[in-house]
Amino acid sequence: MLKGKSLIDPSDFSKEEFREIFDLAHEIAKDPLKYKKSCEDKILATLFFEPSTRTRFSFEAAMLRLGGQVIGFSEPNSSSVAKGESIADTIRTVENYADLAVIRHPKEGAPRVAVQSVKFPVINAGDGGHLHPTQTLTDILTIEMLKGSVENKVYGFCGDLKFGRTVHSLIKFLSNYEGVRFILVSPEELTIPEFVREEITRKNVPFIEVDKLREHLKEMDFLYMTRVQKERFFNEEDYIRLKDSFILDAEKMKHAGPETYILHPLPRVNEISIDVDDDPRAQYFNQARNGMYVRMALILKLLGIK
Ligand code: CP
Repeated sequence: MLKGKSLIDPSDFSKEEFREIFDLAHEIAKDPLKYKKSCEDKILATLFFEPSTRTRFSFEAAMLRLGGQVIGFSEPNSSSVAKGESIADTIRTVENYADLAVIRHPKEGAPRVAVQSVKFPVINAGDGGHLHPTQTLTDILTIEMLKGSVENKVYGFCGDLKFGRTVHSLIKFLSNYEGVRFILVSPEELTIPEFVREEITRKNVPFIEVDKLREHLKEMDFLYMTRVQKERFFNEEDYIRLKDSFILDAEKMKHAGPETYILHPLPRVNEISIDVDDDPRAQYFNQARNGMYVRMALILKLLGIK
C-alpha cells in the first residue's frame, strides 16, 4: 500500500511496491491520455534547492499531464529560505498548500529531515552526492522496456561512481535482484563510496572494480555512463584532472555487444560523444521521456488514486 508513503531511499519501498509503480508506468506509457484527469484537484510542490532540468520538468509535466497543478521554486533565493528559514519550517508551510512535495537539496539527508516534519508524501529528487531514487525509477522502467526484466544481467557503471547519486541509488535497487553482476569502471579516486560497497557486499552481489572500459564492454547488458560531478569537488584542479577519464565514442561502441544498451541519467558534459547519439543502443534520451511516465505512476500511487 503506497498511499501516503514517502520515497527518500530505494529501501523505503518493498519489491512488491516497486512492482506496482512499474506496472502502472508501463500502462501509462502505452496510453498517457487515459490519465489526463486523474489528479484534477491535486497540487504538487517542487522545492528545488539545486539546479535541474529533467527531474523538475518531468515531475511538473507528469502532474500537469495528470490534470493536476504545480507550485514551487527552482531558485531557493526566491523563497523565504533566503531569509534563513529552515527546511523543516519550509516543508511544514508547503504542506498547507500541496498534496505532495518533491525536494532536491545539496545536503545529503535533507529530504529525510523534511519528511520527519510532515504527514504528506515527500519525494527525494536528489540529495547531494547521496541518492536519487526517482532517477532509479526512470532507469528501471527503461531497462524493463528494453530487456523485460532487471534480473540476470551484467550492469556496467562508468565515470564518477563516488559522487554519482544516480549510481548509488540504482546499485542499491539492483542489489535486491537475482543474477545481477556489476562491472564498476572508474579512476581510483572516484570509486563507489563505503555505504554502497557495504550494501553490495552484504547482499553478495558479484562485482569487479576496473579502470579500463573497452575490454569489458562486450559482456555488459547495460552500460550506465555518468558525468564527473564538478559541483561535488573540493578543488577545481582535481576535477580538471579527472573529468575526461572516460569518453564513450562511436569507435569504442564497436567493442560493445549488439545489445549493450547505453544509459546515462543526463546531463552529460563530454563523457558520451555526440557521435553515439544515433546508435540504436544509445537510450539516454528515451530514459528522460520514461522519467515522466514513471513519475506519473509514482504520483498516482502516493496519492492513492491508482
Ligand atoms: N538526471 C537528472 O537528475 O537530471 P537533472 O539534474 O536535469 O534533473
